[in-house]
Order: sequence, then structure tokens, then C-alpha cells
Amino acid sequence: MINIGSINVDHVYRVPYFVKPGETLPSKSYQRVLGGKGANQSVALARAGEAVKHIGVIGDDHTWIIDELKSSKVDTSSIEVGSFATGHALIQVDDNAENCILLFAGANHELNMDSLSEKLSGIEKGGWVLFQNEMPHLNQMISLAKEMGARIAVNPAPFDDRAKLIDYALVDLLIVNDLEAEELAKTKGHGDLEKLADLCPVVIITRGTKGAICYFGNETIEVPAFKVEAVDTTGAGDTFVGYVLSSIAHNLPLKEAMQRASAASALAVTKAGASVAIPTSAEVNQFLNTMSDL
Ligand code: RIB
Ligand code: NA
Repeated sequence: MINIGSINVDHVYRVPYFVKPGETLPSKSYQRVLGGKGANQSVALARAGEAVKHIGVIGDDHTWIIDELKSSKVDTSSIEVGSFATGHALIQVDDNAENCILLFAGANHELNMDSLSEKLSGIEKGGWVLFQNEMPHLNQMISLAKEMGARIAVNPAPFDDRAKLIDYALVDLLIVNDLEAEELAKTKGHGDLEKLADLCPVVIITRGTKGAICYFGNETIEVPAFKVEAVDTTGAGDTFVGYVLSSIAHNLPLKEAMQRASAASALAVTKAGASVAIPTSAEVNQFLNTMSDL
């Protein structure tokens, strides 16, 4: 499996509440960790047991990222070192475990289209290629991967005007959160959420503590969320995406795939940080067993 996505350094500040305009707010703690929706999703795929090659760009200022991805068993051979600084995110996490994120794309936007077909050349027919919305040239990359016989999974996050222009007709699996689903429904479905079912063969909407819902043909599949003590929700969505895609790639029924992904993201919110908080497959199995015993 291939993931073409962002790699960021996350600067995480714990705050009692999000800083207000004009205010100077001391933070309670600071952590520098690996992030980026792309990198987080590759780590989630790898911890789910998937062989994943990450395509992306970092700067020469944060090469520790490569070691960190390698230690999570992500194939980093197609990560390039660009001339800009590594992408980064300033993240405030408040006492409710919610976050707000300020992004700087940096080297992520240096992704070179010229070498992309070579990097994609190992993809098997029907193999999955995953995208988020933190990289340039999305439609160009999606159509190239599709032409090469890949199946396309897209998580159009963070959602913006560019995400509305993604060629959803080429997408096989779409994963969005509830806010993104509403935005997408406004542009593609006259505001009707269920119209999203016509957009791609499999559409999964994550709804935080309300669980997840999937439109698959005429079927609607719902799973509840697991109740946990939230510490930091950063990367919970990324954990869901990695786990659900890995499960689908291994032909797990959609409901089971969604349950696994919900369990993995529930575990991820109980720990601080994005990538570092993503559980292993064994941890997810253990959690699911405990939950079924209750
Ligand atoms: O989804 C969480 C991620 O969004 C963070 O790790 C941050 O880097 C941003 O890309
Ligand atoms: Na977390």
C-alpha cells in the first residue's frame, strides 16, 4: 500500500483554553512530536500490520522523522528531502482534550510530480493508494494512480475549497468526519448527507463520540463509539483512517473494519500526541476483547 501525504513536526502546547485574540497565554507543557495527517495515517497503517510505503517531502532540518517512521515500520525509501523547512503544526490542546491547529505546509508542497510515476511503479493492480488534503497536485496524483490500476482512498482533511474540487468520481473509498461530510454535502448533495452515498462506492463518516456511519451501495452501516477518558484527540481521525483502510484491504466486512478503526481511535485519544498515540494491532485486539467481555 502507498500513502502520499504530509509529514509535519507537531509543536503541542497544553493550555487551559484556546488563546484569545490579543491575549498572551502561558502553556502548561510543550512537546515536539511527529505529525502530519499523512505521516500519522502511515503510522496507523503500519501499526495495523500493513506494509506501507510513504511518499512525501521533509526538509533537512528534521531528519529524526525518518528514524521515527522507520521504527514504526513505515517504508521511507520514497521520502524526499526538499529545500524548504519541514512542514509544521502549532497545536493547542485544551482541558477538554480538544485541539486547534495552525499549519505551515513547508516542504510538503515541494512534492515533485516528475518522479511520482516511478515511485508508484511498484503498486499492484487493485492495490490501494491513500491521499489526504495536505499535499499539492491532488487530482493529478489521483488520476495517475488510478490509471496505474490502483484503488483510491481519500481523506479530504483538512477540508477547504480545494477539497471540494477533488475528482470524487475516481475515489473508491472516502473517509470524512461529520463537519467535512456536511460541507461536502452542501456542494455535492444539496445539503443532503445521504446523497454522499452516490459520490464514491464506499463512504465512511466519523462522528466523534457518536460513532461512525458508512454508506455502501444501498446499505447503511452504523457503529457506536467506544467510551474512553479523552486526553488528546489530535490524530484520532488519522488513526481511524489507517485502521479502517488496512482492515478493508484485508477484506474484513465493513462493519468489523469500522469497529476496529473505532477501537484504535478510542485508544489514540487516551494518549497525548498524534503518531505516538496510535495503538498497535495487538493493543486494539486486547481492547476489543476487554470490551466484548463487559
Ligand atoms: O490530524 C492531525 C494532524 O493534522 C497533526 O498531526 C498536524 O500535523 C496536522 O497535519
Ligand atoms: Na492522541
